[in-house]
Amino acid sequence: MTVDPPAVPERRLIRHADVRSVLADPRFLVPAAPAARPGMGMAWLRGAVSRFSNGAEHGRRRARVTGMLGALDPVRLRREAFERTGAELAGGARVDVMARIARRVPVGVLATRLGVPEDRREEVVAAVTAMAAAYHLPPASGAAPAGDAAVGVLAAALGDGERPEPGLLAAVAGALIQACDATAGLVGNTLVAVARLPSGLPSGLPSGLSADLSARWPVEALLAETLRWDPPVRLTRRVAAEDATAGGVRVPAGAVLLLDLAAANRDPDVFPDPDRFDPGRFLPGCFDPGRFEPGGGGGGPLGFGSGIRPCPGERTALALTAGVVEATLAHRLAGPPNPHEQISYEPSPNLRIPARLYLEGAATTEGPR
Ligand code: HEM
Repeated sequence: MTVDPPAVPERRLIRHADVRSVLADPRFLVPAAPAARPGMGMAWLRGAVSRFSNGAEHGRRRARVTGMLGALDPVRLRREAFERTGAELAGGARVDVMARIARRVPVGVLATRLGVPEDRREEVVAAVTAMAAAYHLPPASGAAPAGDAAVGVLAAALGDGERPEPGLLAAVAGALIQACDATAGLVGNTLVAVARLPSGLPSGLPSGLSADLSARWPVEALLAETLRWDPPVRLTRRVAAEDATAGGVRVPAGAVLLLDLAAANRDPDVFPDPDRFDPGRFLPGCFDPGRFEPGGGGGGPLGFGSGIRPCPGERTALALTAGVVEATLAHRLAGPPNPHEQISYEPSPNLRIPARLYLEGAATTEGPR
């Protein structure tokens, strides 16, 4: 059983400085999950990962994930993501990038680099997708049994017949789950943002979408600005372990803080003209590296979190997403299936992931930059 946050009203913080200071303050904890016996599926997994732990235990688990991801070669991740996306799009037929690519390619590439045999890739992608739907609380209805079974699928693939060491299974599962939905959201939100950039071409598509996805900005700048302007992970929570202050007000022990990363990323005190999508903010020479240092350590965007436990997968996520997005840029966004339909998003309280995005058009010939 997981310990839910206590039933006190949630306070929402939206100012960049307030969100950052809570994320850096050890008096604010993530809701923790207690240890459970191996074999208990998602309950065991939540009790074994860095995401739902605090203090020294969190430090040990996080170090394992960081070490594992640090050993990966981002150039190789990006190339593999580019090639696999190109193969999905080859031939120019209409493809739903969200259903066929946005999860399958990043999770598949990462899984094989983390020890999943090539011939079990698709099975593991499906298992990770099921675990991701059941990971955060409360899980989507019906997600829990599928998630429990999926832990066994990943264990069998990793152990190749043997039972994998539990710490290794937790580290790999935690990384793949965190990678799954958030990376899909970054892929989709970047394509939508790029298609909405003015192109000067007649598009015939709804909501100001342009059919021209050609790159006018380096993909790194596009991803950085999408993470600020339309981040896939929009909210996170912390619980006060003792009486403290946040956002200038007293917060009693046990109070829950809702940290609005998406709102903080549009704080005009930090980002001039914050509602404008402008990848130029992140071109080399256009920003003060102290402000935009990775992980939101400076005054930069909070799309990957900040403070005590920023996303350890930032480099991995950016490499995988860059490969996918680059392979799509020579294609046209054909929009939702019905030309009068707005882009719809998956139902989620804290993630923003387009439900469907159709691409069609020419095959790419160039490799990743
Ligand atoms: C675009 C993709 C991604 C985004 C936007 C993203 C965002 C985030 C954010 C905001 C957090 C912090 C949550 C909090 O402070 O409460 C986080 C945590 C985490 N992320 Fe990511 N993430 C992405 C991809 C990845 C990938 C690819 C991996 C692994 C390969 C990963 C692994 C993790 C882990 C393990 C944590 C928990 C860290 C801890 O609690 O110590 N993420 N992510």
